[in-house]
Amino acid sequence: SWTGVELAPADPIIGLTQAFKDDPAATKVLLGVGAYRDGDGKPVVLPSVKKAEERVVASLQDHEYAAISGLADFCRLSVAFALGADSKPVVENRVACVQTLSGTGACRVGLAMLERLPAVGGGGKPIVYVPSPTWGNHPNIAKDAGLEVRRYRYLDDKTKTSLDFEGLMEDLEHTVEPGSAILLHACAHNPTGVDPSREQWARISRALAQKDVQVFFDCAYQGFASGDPENDAWAIRKFVEDGHNILLAQSYAKNFGLYGERVGALSAVCEDPQQAKALESQLKRIIRPMYSNPPVHGARVVATVLADPNLKARWADECKQMADRIQGMRLALKSSLEDLGSTKDWSHITAQIGMFAFTGLTQDQVLTLRQRFHIYCTLDGRISVAGLTSANVHYVAQAIHEITNS
Ligand code: LMR
Repeated sequence: SWTGVELAPADPIIGLTQAFKDDPAATKVLLGVGAYRDGDGKPVVLPSVKKAEERVVASLQDHEYAAISGLADFCRLSVAFALGADSKPVVENRVACVQTLSGTGACRVGLAMLERLPAVGGGGKPIVYVPSPTWGNHPNIAKDAGLEVRRYRYLDDKTKTSLDFEGLMEDLEHTVEPGSAILLHACAHNPTGVDPSREQWARISRALAQKDVQVFFDCAYQGFASGDPENDAWAIRKFVEDGHNILLAQSYAKNFGLYGERVGALSAVCEDPQQAKALESQLKRIIRPMYSNPPVHGARVVATVLADPNLKARWADECKQMADRIQGMRLALKSSLEDLGSTKDWSHITAQIGMFAFTGLTQDQVLTLRQRFHIYCTLDGRISVAGLTSANVHYVAQAIHEITNS
């Protein structure tokens, strides 16, 4: 019987969407879940993605199952997209890859693999270190996969808006235990929008190369962060060049706008092709009892775009337009706050990248925004900049100014 089953709390990110829908206020703004909206606040289907989708539908032969590891072409193209077609492990055919249920699924399967087959070290319960803060779902996924979650310093506690690089290096060099995994956000860190510089990435890579740890990149914004997919893959490629046999989670939710299609990939750079084959066979063993095999439609769409240089160029351009609109909204929010006479420093809003601005608002201020102004963002003060439009940005700036002006 279900007696005693308690009501679980709403998800801190996805739950906001329902709270927003339930709010009868005429003037309300949703800045919660990271989902792109156009200048009119509407969801977007990218024309390049639509074109690819038309091709997929026109050539549809059957609705057969995919392999447990998903579509082989999609996996091959995904690896080349992230690592670069001429990257050494790609050329040497030593990257294992499976299609996953977007980035969440990739993290889940990858962490489950670490739990079963500790890639380094071994022994007790494997540990994964995540940045503080990190995407709210990372700890849930890791715990469900049976790992112990610990944190390394990331955001500067004093400014709340910049990287605590010294703290981060100290933790990675001295605190992290051998045999553990280190989760890194490849670009557009969620929720802070604060990324290490290239020089800092190089130092992180060097430090971790001295340690017996497994590097796990989560890449949810390739192309979406800076508008240039090559640039956004820089850290991943640097680590691979430096000889790290990384694990990599990729999501095509934001950059291709394929949120609900659940398109993603998990890859592992290996020593040689035999090892890659063995690893892939073990990943399949994890996937089969979990969900058998992944859905095919979205992966076919992504593969169609990535395989066609013209379509890929169009996609890159459209992806850049999304990144540019977000950048424009960052500027609009900052200048509206300044025009209203705010004397606070809002430069972090334009310095941060990706979908989110980590405003520095406290939990109380976030709750006031919700109750008094019907503006919804997560309790950590993160706002999805994609939810801002020229029609609502002044209202949001006014509200933020009012609650920070004391
Ligand atoms: C977010 O952080 O808002 C997105 O990654 C969506 C999600 O699933 O939480």
